[in-house]
Amino acid sequence: MYIIKIEYANRLGRLPKYIFAAIEELKEQKKKEGMDLISLGIGDPDLPTPNVIIEELIKQVKLPENQNYPSSMGEQEFREAIAKWNKIRYGINLNPSTEVSHVLGGKEGVANIARAFINPGDLVLCPNPGYPVYENGATKLCDGEPYLMPLKKENNFLPEIEAIDKEVLKKAKLIYLNYPNNPTGAIVPRDYLKKMIDFAEDYNFIIVYDNPYSEFTYGNYIAPSILQFSLDHVEINSASKMFNMTGFRCGWIAGNAEIIEGLRKVKSQIDSGGSIFIQKALIKGLNEYTSQKKPEIVAETMRIYEKRRDVLVNGLNKMGWKTEKPKATFYIWTQIPEGEENSMEFTKKLINVGVIITPGIGFGRYGERFVRFALTKSVERINEALERIEKIIN
Ligand SMILES: Cc1ncc(COP(=O)(O)O)c(C=O)c1O
Repeated sequence: MYIIKIEYANRLGRLPKYIFAAIEELKEQKKKEGMDLISLGIGDPDLPTPNVIIEELIKQVKLPENQNYPSSMGEQEFREAIAKWNKIRYGINLNPSTEVSHVLGGKEGVANIARAFINPGDLVLCPNPGYPVYENGATKLCDGEPYLMPLKKENNFLPEIEAIDKEVLKKAKLIYLNYPNNPTGAIVPRDYLKKMIDFAEDYNFIIVYDNPYSEFTYGNYIAPSILQFSLDHVEINSASKMFNMTGFRCGWIAGNAEIIEGLRKVKSQIDSGGSIFIQKALIKGLNEYTSQKKPEIVAETMRIYEKRRDVLVNGLNKMGWKTEKPKATFYIWTQIPEGEENSMEFTKKLINVGVIITPGIGFGRYGERFVRFALTKSVERINEALERIEKIIN
């Protein structure tokens, strides 16, 4: 026991228990019991970072000039590569000095941007179900108020902005939008983005477009950037999913220079940026893009996920669990079978047979009655998981 009496700040009391932590506890217990677990829970790619990036990293890390403090806004060379990528990928012209900045992964950018714009009590429009950082790490830790926008299946998991009270919209400072979407796998029509931009102009709020799954698309579908329709807002993306680099913590924000300046002010007081050698290695990956079409290092990954998606979704449907194939992301979002109590209890049942998924409630209250599978295991393991699931369902 400590002698000092520890009192956490009130804002910590507003945070929910991180759902993945609860799942971790259960998982640990099963592991201790010696159970073979198939984890389709957390969205962390099991595939390796492409060789071109790793080889460049090894070269860059050896150079003494890459071993010092970086700048929190990112190296000029890195920002130029991001601007160039945006030009090739989306046809957008960005000034690398002011309209691009480095973030330590999308999560850091999503959370810290709120510190630049949210005063205590300010409203932030958050999709629900959604990436929990919008509501918690960003809004609540800035003493802001999340306003939950339900993502309903009948609306293709798009928030119904017209249905939100005008007085709420007037008070909103910022909205988080994320398509291709985690956890629902939904994509966004271009007209919807235009409509959202019109609302943002009418009510004067900032759109933070969180786009880490921009490259995780299937077939001919190409995900848009919000910056293709307006440079008034910002978009956050990262190397995490694009190049299987979750552990490298390297991403970027692009768009409105004034918004980015706010984030830079915050970050310059908090972090000293991301390793220069990582930024330089990532440039190699980005330079593989010669058109908006995915380069082979990304296309290869997506062929693997597509196969897994098809095996899992076909398998679930075959056992009578109606599930749709997403056009993007490596997530399968599906309603729990009829008669099941709720998403958490159903998830526990699956953990008891060694299959780990994420209960929809972990993404917010409007995620209840859904669960999310992440396609982060091989086809063989997915087939094994299906066999185990069938025992529960039938
Ligand atoms: C919607 C969404 N935004 C942001 C992130 C953050 O990714 P990273 O910080 O690794 O770039 C994730 C990661 O899963 C995500 O799903």
